[in-house]
Amino acid sequence: MAEQLKPIEIGSVYPPIGAVLIIGNGLVGSCLAKDFGVTPVDYPQVDIVNPIVTWDLVKSFPGELVINAAGKTKVDEAEREKDMGRDGSYYRVNVLGNRHLAQACLEFKKYFVSISSEMAFGEGEKGQLRLESEVPEVHIAERGVYGGTKAWGEFEILTYFAKEGRGINLRISHPSKRSEGWFFNLIKKYSKLHDDSEITPTLTEELSHVIAQAYVLGISRRTLHAVGTVVTPYEFGTAGRKRLGITGETEPIHFENVKSKAYRPQFGALSNEYTQKLLGLRFRDSQEQIDYLTS
Ligand SMILES: NC(=O)c1ccc[n+]([C@@H]2O[C@H](COP(=O)([O-])OP(=O)(O)OC[C@H]3O[C@@H](n4cnc5c(N)ncnc54)[C@H](OP(=O)(O)O)[C@@H]3O)[C@@H](O)[C@H]2O)c1
Repeated sequence: MAEQLKPIEIGSVYPPIGAVLIIGNGLVGSCLAKDFGVTPVDYPQVDIVNPIVTWDLVKSFPGELVINAAGKTKVDEAEREKDMGRDGSYYRVNVLGNRHLAQACLEFKKYFVSISSEMAFGEGEKGQLRLESEVPEVHIAERGVYGGTKAWGEFEILTYFAKEGRGINLRISHPSKRSEGWFFNLIKKYSKLHDDSEITPTLTEELSHVIAQAYVLGISRRTLHAVGTVVTPYEFGTAGRKRLGITGETEPIHFENVKSKAYRPQFGALSNEYTQKLLGLRFRDSQEQIDYLTS
């Protein structure tokens, strides 16, 4: 089925979408901004934790498409807030901030794209992909503060959808753009990579296309996934290094032998099947991603 779908064209003109408001000028927001040719707004000029500032921002935006790429994203640092509940900054930005944007978009009739993560889920199972239709449980302590607030942020979107909001919840994982992002960290910084964990990386150029296409088609009240196919970090990293002629061995290591402060899923792969069918587009597989990223 997937073979019959049209691959996502990169560098082509996106469907005409008019003005775009991107909140968050970090890794993901800045990549999206380059594709859409806009300047993102960011903290401290705009604080999405402040409902009045957020409403004013959305109200004064003349276009329709609003993308939330803002967030608190330092997975290990977030654990410092594990006993802070709703007073923690991760809760305030990832949950309340998302809520304020969703509410403002509902009020001012904007189309809202909320970016989420595979880490909204707890541990998956080897060989099993999380579906777009799966809803992460909000209270799972094992996921840690970051993942927990992403799950809760998704819950806010479901509430917004229930009130006729327009837009999508869009999960991504390990994002990269040509010449920047997670892939380039992986191949340049790490010589030891997991060979027994599963991920589905995101090309941010494909993410931009998914956003534009979903908006143009008027897809609403759904969760989509903008990801490629399953790969281990070791496979992805070694293929990338080889392709770029980076010398030095990459050593495979087992997931259980790497200690980190915060929980991270060993099996966090996302399915893209429903999204592909809905949009009539095909995501690149992991080898095609490497070919694109290194070309
Ligand atoms: N990077 C990944 O591996 C990954 C994977 C899956 C999903 N995601 C999701 O993608 C989205 C963007 O992540 P990212 O990697 O681009 O994160 P990032 O590089 O940390 O950027 C997040 C941006 O949000 C801004 N921000 C923080 N608090 C804010 C507030 N109160 N009001 C307005 N802006 C605020 C940050 O500003 P300051 O720097 O000034 O704090 C920063 O510019 C997040 O929803 C994240 O969960 C990321």
